Amino acid sequence: MNGFPNVDPIPLPAPIWLFKLLHIVTLALHFVAMQVLVGGLLIAVLLNLLGRSSSSKTAAAAVGRRLTVVMTYVINLGVPPLLFAQVLYGRAIYTSSVLIGAYWISVIPALILVYWLLYRFAAGLEAGRKVWWMGLIAWIITGGIADIYVNNMTLMLRPGVWQKMYAASSLGTHLPTDDPTKLPRFLFMIAGGFVAGGLWLIFLAGRKSFSDLDRRYLSALGGRIAAVAAIAQVFAALAVYRTQPAIVQAGLGDHLLYKIAGLGWMALALVILLFAGFAAFAKPVAQLTSWLSAIVAFLSIALMTVYRDGIRDLTLLSKGYDVWNRTVVTNWSVVGIFLVLFVVGLGVVGWLISVVARAERVMESAVIG
Ligand code: HEM
Repeated sequence: MNGFPNVDPIPLPAPIWLFKLLHIVTLALHFVAMQVLVGGLLIAVLLNLLGRSSSSKTAAAAVGRRLTVVMTYVINLGVPPLLFAQVLYGRAIYTSSVLIGAYWISVIPALILVYWLLYRFAAGLEAGRKVWWMGLIAWIITGGIADIYVNNMTLMLRPGVWQKMYAASSLGTHLPTDDPTKLPRFLFMIAGGFVAGGLWLIFLAGRKSFSDLDRRYLSALGGRIAAVAAIAQVFAALAVYRTQPAIVQAGLGDHLLYKIAGLGWMALALVILLFAGFAAFAKPVAQLTSWLSAIVAFLSIALMTVYRDGIRDLTLLSKGYDVWNRTVVTNWSVVGIFLVLFVVGLGVVGWLISVVARAERVMESAVIG
């Protein structure tokens, strides 16, 4: 008796390593989009509130215009890892989702509201109006959604408190308390938003659809934001580690993959700090720095996703839940069809990107007012 519901008698239809691989890859992509949204949105709000120069107006409109698209990625790239998480961790994540059911279900109307506000915000920025308050409301709600996710992903690791929570209320209206890992984890994700947001501005600086002046503005601003946020995120990362139980810390140190992911993330944080500092002063607009910023952002988030997966697996293992211990009866024909469709899907996305890349350039400086 370890507090988790019984395992589903139906065996898994594909190897566990395949589910885990797909889970980590798709979740890393969700995190990239989510962090760009969290950071990019507040950057656009502050530019609209405080910016006086024409470059700041162009930058705010350019970011706002793209955020509606970023939001589609946040949502669509959130669905696949949610499905894989349910397959691998259903016994834990279903329980925690039900226990905070009212909050969990409120994510859907909250997302719709954020989406609507983003469109209004983008249209206002495009017209050169002061619409920062709309963006700010959207950002606060987005932070609320992030908080609900953090609550769920940490509650699923604590079977010991489930019964007490359910006894206190079966309506799903209580959030878990007394979890020291929750706040550092939330702050880590929010700080990461500003690292990603800053690196995104450096990436945008490589686009020829902006004037030279605007490109240099974007890269200098992005560099300053990413550098400060990278330092904050390292402190949050240390707090996340320190609040883990000793058994999880020991496991993270003993496991080669998690060790590589953790140390690799730290090393990349330093690289990002130096790179962002360079951008802040040198204001580079070359394609190379633009793509470098995208690559370091993705690598850093991918390493974090692996390490985060380690924290979950080791925490669950310490409570008797071994994610690798499942009956697998692989249905290779279905797995084969899935992989073929996956590759075809990637090809179609690549083709769509090439169409966008070949499209006629529209200059992005026409902000009225
Ligand atoms: C504005 C919208 C969203 C924000 C701000 C957001 C934020 C977050 C955050 C902060 C986490 C990490 C929680 C933690 O590790 O403690 C997370 C995880 C996750 N999110 Fe999102 N999210 C958003 C929308 C979505 C949507 C719409 C979906 C799915 C349809 C989704 C699916 C997931 C999944 C599957 C995970 C992790 C599951 C796992 O640990 O295996 N998210 N999200």
